Amino acid sequence: MNNVRVILLYVLLISCNNPSSDVLVTDILPTPLSATVNEGSFSHNSLIIDNGTKEILGNYIDWMKEWSIPLEWKEENGNVKVVIDQSIESGGYLLSVEKEGVLIRAKDRPTISNALGTLYQLIELNNGKIPLMEIADGAYYAYRGMHLDVARHMFSVAEIKKYLDFLALYKFNKFHWHLTEDQGWRIEIKKYPKLQSIAAYRDETLIGHYNDQPHQFDGKRYGGYYTQEEIKDIIHYADARGIEIIPEIDIPGHSLALLSAYPELGCETKEYKAATKWGVFSDVLCPKEETFKFLENVFSEIIELFPSEYIHIGGDECPKDQWKKSALCQTIMKRENLKDEMELQSYFIQRIEKFINSKGKRIIGWDEILEGGLAPNATVMSWRGVQGGIEAAKEGHDVIMTPTSHCYFDYYQSQNDGEPLAIGGYTPYQKVYEWSPIPEGLEPSYHKYVMGGQGNVWTEYMKTFDHVEYMALTRMITLSEVLWGKHSGSIDQFNDKLFLHTSHWEDQGVNIANHLLDVTTQLEVVADKGVKVDVSSAASDAQIYWKSPSAQNFQIKSDADIFLGESGEYKFYSQLKDKKGHEYELSFVPHKGNTAHIELKNEPSKTYSGNGSQSIINGVIGPDHRYGGSEWLGFSGDDLEATITFSKIKKLNYVELRFFKGEGQWIYLPSSVEVFSIDENGLEKKLGNTMTPTTDNKIAVTEIKFPSTHTKTLKVRAKNYGLIPEGRQGGGHDSWLFVDEIIIR
Ligand code: ACM
Repeated sequence: MNNVRVILLYVLLISCNNPSSDVLVTDILPTPLSATVNEGSFSHNSLIIDNGTKEILGNYIDWMKEWSIPLEWKEENGNVKVVIDQSIESGGYLLSVEKEGVLIRAKDRPTISNALGTLYQLIELNNGKIPLMEIADGAYYAYRGMHLDVARHMFSVAEIKKYLDFLALYKFNKFHWHLTEDQGWRIEIKKYPKLQSIAAYRDETLIGHYNDQPHQFDGKRYGGYYTQEEIKDIIHYADARGIEIIPEIDIPGHSLALLSAYPELGCETKEYKAATKWGVFSDVLCPKEETFKFLENVFSEIIELFPSEYIHIGGDECPKDQWKKSALCQTIMKRENLKDEMELQSYFIQRIEKFINSKGKRIIGWDEILEGGLAPNATVMSWRGVQGGIEAAKEGHDVIMTPTSHCYFDYYQSQNDGEPLAIGGYTPYQKVYEWSPIPEGLEPSYHKYVMGGQGNVWTEYMKTFDHVEYMALTRMITLSEVLWGKHSGSIDQFNDKLFLHTSHWEDQGVNIANHLLDVTTQLEVVADKGVKVDVSSAASDAQIYWKSPSAQNFQIKSDADIFLGESGEYKFYSQLKDKKGHEYELSFVPHKGNTAHIELKNEPSKTYSGNGSQSIINGVIGPDHRYGGSEWLGFSGDDLEATITFSKIKKLNYVELRFFKGEGQWIYLPSSVEVFSIDENGLEKKLGNTMTPTTDNKIAVTEIKFPSTHTKTLKVRAKNYGLIPEGRQGGGHDSWLFVDEIIIR
């Protein structure tokens, strides 16, 4: 699984040969396994590659020139040598910067590509004068992937190549190309021309967020597809960078576009149309012989085109409503002795796996393929958390970890106002940095099945490649650090490097997100004093400024603690030299619960646990447009049941709760809210209740007024909506309940 051992051998060799072995924390990302810096530097006006590796380096070098690296070709007397060294077992490279030039030794194309990524960064970050050094480097995880959804929105061949450039520069070796969806089919299949003429297009596209009601559409036909010639060109381009492209044909769900062209593959006789909005649709492929024949023909062309070891067959989010109603499906289930529709899904996937295996390829599927029994040779991509990955590893299957909590780069990356519309959530790059592909709780004997991780870029809300750059790149660079083995030492050291990289790409005109000057706040309740705010900036040298709601001007933050007291907006920002970060607003409501003690009967989900249970009474109000982050608590399937204890008896007559509604993301308002006082004997007295709050917006506020009551303890219960009704997004699953804040007066 990991290649570290091989490289360590080289590290030892180098260290022994080299008495000056200070370890340099170089600016290279991902941080190399080992770098030893020597006295002096190599200065160059132009870099000249002179050995016989032109064929291997080919368009890689042309591309480096495009990124304004001064590289030239010459038959001899060059100052960059690339040597293929078969003695390096696999996975690593050696790079020496000497007075006369740069020597790279690597075994194959992927490792040469890794070395060139390092060389590129050495050149770009050192302004033509590279310190003399020895780098011995290799990846920790064998699978270092980035995904891109080109079905919700499509990007040009040149843009896909640019994406691959970034992958290569940060040593990713897998590109998971999500080519088909309900909203469009994006790959030419010669045997089925209607995939090009019909399935590649949708009539129009949703405007705004799925949660905005009523839905509105742009009225513009949208679509297109990559021809097989374009696909070959892109594969060739990726191959030169040591990147394997794994194509995904998503079946049996997410196939509405396909059904729009070939409705006979559905379970119902009707007209199907490519989807014009996002989500999960009950129109899915029917497991009939005709469908299998069709898919075998499609996969035959895919396999012919893509040299990859893997083919991704999707398998996610396939509602079973139509299979339950279909007489044909029920007959198949009887014939195959399948006890339910989950097993029918497993039958579907296993037939496809058998076909793909027969062509010498292996399948990857999203973690739903575990349901009803895993196909014998499948690799599982764990996305709905880590449980799927754990289960599959325990069954001896390879897994790729890509949990929504850390690896979905379509989630918000900043709490700032003014971020471009995103699907939801909150995954700042710092959270990606903290992540490890090895899930907690997986026994060490199964770690070998965790091949690595992947960042996913779903493009419902990304119409342009510029927007993809914004959402993906900073977190992608961070993920590269994690997957390479995280040799940066600490997040502070990583931050300093990341700052250099984002600045470099900004100078190159790339729309990379730069949140290094964002401030983050940590709130702490200090008994009898109030709510204290700790403010920090990722840029450790930055100056922090703040202002209270009533202040006219910002002031420099001194060492004195800041306590929240006034009602209204507190503002913060950080500044480094002439660069000023975004202003962050914290909205505070003083109330009687601010410094109370709170206990929750049910823990919120780990992923949506804010700054702990105190988050929902600390007076700081979570944003209106986005759940996740430091304030909202999210409960999957569970009720909110909070016991709030004051330091002394209080007179109360009012409790208000705020809930988030996002049914597209399975987030429902509670079915009821109740408030009780609890006396010193533990006896509960109901103070008031409301039934399901309603709202057309994302936020519902419930007010419960009651006659003045003296109590030291209050209990607040908001009942989870329960199972999501069939036919809705997430039908049959537990719904989420999101709450912030409980205001007590
Ligand atoms: C997925 O996000 N539906 C795999």
